[in-house]
Amino acid sequence: MSIKKLLDSVAVIGEAFTLRPTDSTRKQLVDVLGKLSAQIIPPTEQLLYLAWAEPARPAALTTALDLGLFEHMTQPISVENLSKKLPCSTDVLLLNRLLQHLAATFVISSPSPQIYEPTPLSLLLQDPRQSVALRLASLLHGPNLDALPRYLSTNGYKSPADSKDLPFHLAHETKQSPWGWGSQRPEVARAFALHMSGYHIGRPNWLNTDMYPFEERVLKDADDDHVLFLDVGGGMGDDIANLRARLGNIIGNKKLVLQERETIVARVKQSRPELEVVVGDFFEEPKIKGARAYFLHSVLHDWPDEECQKILRHLKGAMTSGYSRLLIYENVLPEQNASWKMTSLDLIMMANAGGMEKTEGLWKDLVESSGLKVNRI
Ligand SMILES: C[S@@+](CC[C@H](N)C(=O)[O-])C[C@H]1O[C@@H](n2cnc3c(N)ncnc32)[C@H](O)[C@@H]1O
Repeated sequence: MSIKKLLDSVAVIGEAFTLRPTDSTRKQLVDVLGKLSAQIIPPTEQLLYLAWAEPARPAALTTALDLGLFEHMTQPISVENLSKKLPCSTDVLLLNRLLQHLAATFVISSPSPQIYEPTPLSLLLQDPRQSVALRLASLLHGPNLDALPRYLSTNGYKSPADSKDLPFHLAHETKQSPWGWGSQRPEVARAFALHMSGYHIGRPNWLNTDMYPFEERVLKDADDDHVLFLDVGGGMGDDIANLRARLGNIIGNKKLVLQERETIVARVKQSRPELEVVVGDFFEEPKIKGARAYFLHSVLHDWPDEECQKILRHLKGAMTSGYSRLLIYENVLPEQNASWKMTSLDLIMMANAGGMEKTEGLWKDLVESSGLKVNRI
């Protein structure tokens, strides 16, 4: 599209957005502004942005997080005054160099020389559940993605399918599984758990929307003799807590159980002692048989297909035909124009774990090849 046409679209969509700032008009405006930037910024400058600005930004951001900088920037502040609040008070020049790059890449802004002020993004970074995404990038998937081209070139450019030989193993020079490696590193384990909770904030919740009629499909006709909901690989139990908070009055005494690895179960017992938890490996048949619903949230995208099939077959073995249901909560990648969130998550899953974000067709193939029937996507 020509620059003129894009500018016209900005005017039209911009007006619609000003009048009625919906999620859809916001996305359209961001999309057209992105296309306009790509047309206006000379390719040589775009190249240097990729080669210089993008690698430098995480370095400045992680240092800023280490210093607790964003917590101290709640209003416009001079670099001099800011430095007095931080552990680097002696090196004002260093601080200014970092702040300049953060301002140049729109993390903060600079209304006048040596004065910096927060943006909505830097204010968000005051919340550890949000800023931890950056920590996890530097601890885990940043190095894994760096290793991806080397991995692909030595493996004949095939999607990783062996969970014991991944870009992760190359990056971290380990033979451990990503989960075992993470569990032995408290900083990674903490960051991962916190990130998973933060990741769900602001995303459409499967219980909030008409995404899945839980009351009609699961609660109705559920008996009292079996577990109502087994959250397999349920992390810190956010989904169960949410379910209880929203539908607790109808769920009553029916059982909601979290199944996790031993290290996670120990953490959940400390932080959410009210939850019912069981230790269980999803590469074995669950001890809890005949539950009304088995739930997998952001689990299958972590594994190559062969492992996904093993997980699904084990769940099938525990299900009661005609009574149990399996609920899979994952992204469905569109066939075209997938968002950068989905495409980057896809590459992150590939590098971290040999996993994948899947299209509707690929989800169907996976589930049906594991001996289960897809009712609805
Ligand atoms: C991406 S997290 C998803 C957590 C949670 N469902 C959520 O959406 O917040 C994947 C979970 O799988 C668990 N997991 C990994 N390997 C496992 C295994 N072999 N058996 C059981 N759980 C496992 C991890 O501990 C982790 O909590």
